[in-house]
Amino acid sequence: MALHRIRSITIGVPEVEAVRAFYRDFGLLETSPRRFATADGGEQLRLEPAPRRRLLALSVGVDDADDLGRAAAALPGLGIATERDTRGLEAVEAVTGIRVRLAIEPRVEQKPPPLLPSNAPGRAPRIDVRSPAVLPQSPPRPRRLSHVVVGSCDAPASRRFFVEGLGFRVSDEVPAIGASFLRCSTDHHNLLVQAGPFPFVHHSAWEMDDVDAVGHAAAAMVAADPSRHVWGLGRHGIGSNFFWYLRDPAGTFAEYTSDLDVIVDDEAWKLAASSGAHPLAAWGPPVPQAFLAPEDVMALARGEV
Ligand SMILES: [Fe+2]
Repeated sequence: MALHRIRSITIGVPEVEAVRAFYRDFGLLETSPRRFATADGGEQLRLEPAPRRRLLALSVGVDDADDLGRAAAALPGLGIATERDTRGLEAVEAVTGIRVRLAIEPRVEQKPPPLLPSNAPGRAPRIDVRSPAVLPQSPPRPRRLSHVVVGSCDAPASRRFFVEGLGFRVSDEVPAIGASFLRCSTDHHNLLVQAGPFPFVHHSAWEMDDVDAVGHAAAAMVAADPSRHVWGLGRHGIGSNFFWYLRDPAGTFAEYTSDLDVIVDDEAWKLAASSGAHPLAAWGPPVPQAFLAPEDVMALARGEV
């Protein structure tokens, strides 16, 4: 049938203990050492020691053996070897070194959150009562992994691996930064591959109930340690999602996000270039240079580390 979700990611980091503590604070549940679960998606993040931060592995949920068969047939044409077992197929993306596993998995059904009554000019469904969004609450937890963003020194080759080899769909592209927004589900993007001086992980993003949940969770993280703040609150132009980015102790950004576009019909979807959407943000604070060009990546590229 089809690829249907981004199941999990494994990130390599030099400072594992500090990064562990960050993702516990972030709202992920550490179910065993260095393995983290979301509320709806099960175990979705693993941390492994590595000399520098990068995405080591990515697992994708697929419906059935036909999906494995298609990838097994396509990847050798790109010069990529595959390993197959009864429940999955593995291959390594040659440029970034990311080990990808397609795994036969049931789809995840998410229970929708309660709809907050929202007042607006000429429409007041909430009267004589405060919004639940302002009442004291524990920081909300991420519902599931939304997407991951990686740098590749040959972004077109990495894109070919995921699109032609594995069956990811292209939702949007930003040629100026060599970026392709790819999906393995109906989410606008589960993987963004962008040009970079060497393989690195730019950020992971975690789905929250709504913009209030994004705000509550990020504000709690920043209150505990203001140096975590990177960029937000804002709304992306491509993908339409609300965002607030924090920095983990290894330098990888972690995004709380909500309200990402959903694509079920490729014919109906208009590419960003023809839609008028801003490539970066429809609104929000000015983008920090360190978000566009992470300082550790730039220093390494200049040979300073
Ligand atoms: Fe993102």
